[in-house]
Amino acid sequence: MILVTGAAGFIGSHVCEALAKEGKHVIGVDNFNSYYSPKIKESNIEALNKNKNFSLYREDIKNIDGLKNIFKNSKIEKIIHLAARVGVRPSISMPDAYVQDNIQGTLNLLELARENSIKNFVFGSSSSVYGGNKKIPFSENDEVNSQISPYGFTKRSCELLCNTYHNLYGMNIACLRFFTVYGPRGRPDMAIYKFAKMINEEKKIEVYGNGTSKRDYTYVSDIVKGILLALEKNKGFEIINLGDNNPVILKDVIRLIENNLDKKAKIKMAEKQQGDMEVTYANISKAKKLLGWSPEIDFKQGIKSFTEWFKSNKISLTL
Ligand SMILES: NC(=O)c1ccc[n+]([C@@H]2O[C@H](COP(=O)([O-])OP(=O)(O)OC[C@H]3O[C@@H](n4cnc5c(N)ncnc54)[C@H](O)[C@@H]3O)[C@@H](O)[C@H]2O)c1
Repeated sequence: MILVTGAAGFIGSHVCEALAKEGKHVIGVDNFNSYYSPKIKESNIEALNKNKNFSLYREDIKNIDGLKNIFKNSKIEKIIHLAARVGVRPSISMPDAYVQDNIQGTLNLLELARENSIKNFVFGSSSSVYGGNKKIPFSENDEVNSQISPYGFTKRSCELLCNTYHNLYGMNIACLRFFTVYGPRGRPDMAIYKFAKMINEEKKIEVYGNGTSKRDYTYVSDIVKGILLALEKNKGFEIINLGDNNPVILKDVIRLIENNLDKKAKIKMAEKQQGDMEVTYANISKAKKLLGWSPEIDFKQGIKSFTEWFKSNKISLTL
């Protein structure tokens, strides 16, 4: 059995679906936090709830006793740890909550992995660990001692914690640094979803900085493939970038969404936000070499699929 934390979230629900489709038994854990509407999370797992290969625990990863019960009830062999308090900007105003959910939560899972002799662990890290890195593309060998948000700091801290557990107990741990993930069921707090919603409702969208920032947007099915490959292939401790290797300028993102929704955006320029990175850009040669992974969905194709989902999704239109 495979334990997936953050199972009702954007990436987690796609990972659980892919595993269940392969006939694997999946135990999902999620506390349905209110960072964005729990109704969206319920809808993310609507189909999964009907799948006999999937069981869900509504549990908080901060609650070690609750987690222990799950391990007692099921023979868990592998862990994909995706539960986290997400979002860069809100982490600046409530850093303590991020430290609790992300660092304490990860420690609890590593401890249970040790107690239950679990050998394979995948941790969902983030391009945010690169902080103000000036050298592009970002490589796993770059020094990452200077995050610019508490969120990025918690992700880097968790990577170090994973490394410590590997050193002590020999677990195979892959920390995968995801670069701005998008696609169907995409998070409503992220730019692509917000832009689609505001353009669709003919409301003004706020563009921070002067719209010149760049992101290495990565389609969710590519991220899922990378996670499953890492779970299967990783030996030892590795940090691996999963990105598109093709940064896109914000203005072009808006243009593409406009074209797909066949509506014009109303743009309001706003100040650059604290914690925002100017550019993210992944060097993905390590993922290619170790996992045989490369992204398959290009940005144009990905945005087309995203907007098709967006238009047909009742939840995204009502909330
Ligand atoms: N989406 C991205 O662009 C992106 C980029 C880099 C890294 N990541 C990482 O990937 C992972 C998944 O992100 P996502 O975009 O799917 O976010 P998400 O918010 O949709 O999913 C995270 C899930 O974790 C759950 N959760 C949070 N705290 C929890 C706790 N204490 N106990 C149990 N469940 C808890 C939430 O309810 C949510 O359903 C996260 O670790 C995130 O940091 C995401």
